[in-house]
Amino acid sequence: MHDIKLNLPRLKGKIIAVDGPAGSGKSTTARMLAARLGYVYLDTGAMYRALTHFALKRKISPSDGPALAAIAEKVPIEFETHENVNRVSINGKDVTNEIRTPEVTRHVSEVSAHKEVRKAMVAKQREMGKKGSIVAEGRDTTTVVFPHADVKIFLSASVKERASRRLLDLTKMGISTTLEEQEADIIRRDEHDSNREHSPLKKAPGAFTVDTTDMTIEGQVDFIISLIRQILK
Ligand code: DC
Repeated sequence: MHDIKLNLPRLKGKIIAVDGPAGSGKSTTARMLAARLGYVYLDTGAMYRALTHFALKRKISPSDGPALAAIAEKVPIEFETHENVNRVSINGKDVTNEIRTPEVTRHVSEVSAHKEVRKAMVAKQREMGKKGSIVAEGRDTTTVVFPHADVKIFLSASVKERASRRLLDLTKMGISTTLEEQEADIIRRDEHDSNREHSPLKKAPGAFTVDTTDMTIEGQVDFIISLIRQILK
């Protein structure tokens, strides 16, 4: 694996946006890209997950858009990368592991579909990207949050491949689940994320599609780095 940092002046201060469906490898890819480029990594899905976790704890319904948006506007969500792990906290509490539980995963699509929730989150995300030198990933970073990003990537992979990646991740985290459960969850979330009214997952104009089904994570990072170097030359 190459972990040498790229110090080319032409690669400084850019915005790289990566979107794709659940399990397409966005998070790992974006985190590794950010490390290679010396950029900040912004996991926008983690923001929606942190909000969902916070709301569930406070018995705020995932269907209550205005109440959720009020939290999204007022409650600070913070990121910190420590020894290659991205810690997420909301209102000062570390929720890195809690935001990956099946309960949060079950409700996050509903929470993230509210127009007013998205408006509050997008404003926060743009603020974080103001200075550039950022790799943002999610569902709408190439279409809505940073439509003028310097490089836009759309990651894809087969449902089976994405489900087995998720199964591996969750098993490592000590969460018990099956391949069938993960496949069903991925199909349900694809459907929800791609067909919702506000900011559905879709390929942005000018985005490059990278199908990662048969790629290793290192392979896909190398591939995208070479793509970035060609685009920004
Ligand atoms: O990438 P993920 O599985 O952690 O994302 C969690 C959920 O958040 C996903 O079901 C869709 C939603 N999401 C979104 O609506 N917009 C984003 N930019 C990122 C995630």
